[in-house]
Amino acid sequence: MAPDDAAIAPLRAAGFAGPYALAIVTGTGLGALVEAVTDRVSLDYAAIPGFPAPGVSGHGGRLHRGRLSGRPVLVFEGRTHAYETGNAAAMRVPLAAARALGAARLLLTNAAGSLRPEIGPGRLVMLADHINLSGLNPLIGEPSDARFVPMTEAYDPGLRAHLSAAAEETGLPLPAGVYAWFSGPSFETPAEVRMAGILGADLVGMSTVPETILARFLGMPVAAISVVTNLAAGIAGGDPHHAETKAVAARAGADLARLAAGFVGRLPEA
Ligand code: HPA
Repeated sequence: MAPDDAAIAPLRAAGFAGPYALAIVTGTGLGALVEAVTDRVSLDYAAIPGFPAPGVSGHGGRLHRGRLSGRPVLVFEGRTHAYETGNAAAMRVPLAAARALGAARLLLTNAAGSLRPEIGPGRLVMLADHINLSGLNPLIGEPSDARFVPMTEAYDPGLRAHLSAAAEETGLPLPAGVYAWFSGPSFETPAEVRMAGILGADLVGMSTVPETILARFLGMPVAAISVVTNLAAGIAGGDPHHAETKAVAARAGADLARLAAGFVGRLPEA
């Protein structure tokens, strides 16, 4: 039995069969997006075999189905990070379940530190690409040749165009940036942030990249949005703390919800 099979039957029984126009993963402090979803049916991760028990304060741990802009969506409120257990594949079962239930595509959200002083706390950035600085990969141990996942267009150009159009319609600036994944959980040193900048990163964070890799492995197109909660360590004014991450993410959550609603409204049928 594939690891996700055990999750599917209880999810179907609980009314979670798709199709879905979009699955969404909410990042630290970004659970407010859930409030924008109407006709909600919710289930604790704890009730779903193989789903992780999120341990980071600021994270939920519930799966929701419902409608956003009238379109069927599946929302993961809370994720497990590689830094909680060392397992970069912690979100494999949830994402495989989303795919199996009929989620056509994936929107990942996260809180991140910005290397660009002009893109400060509260701003949203669309991921154009990423750099994996963690030394981890969620597909290590995957035996099939499918593990050699192309990552050339990891963040789907068509979905990025829809995000840009939705941002324009919503009146939100949405620059594109490169996200560097550090495993965490300690924040970066200023020297590490300088290194990431030299390598081409605009953002630093502790999530998203393993989920992008897993989703591409599963054949789902991916889009991702960072909510900048702070300037990264060593950038003038940057001194990241988890409390600040949660507080700023919560304030920017309303913008993220508006953007996500505009985005899903523009997507083709599930
Ligand atoms: N670094 C890594 N992860 C983060 C940061 C940061 O500065 N801010 C929010 N998540």
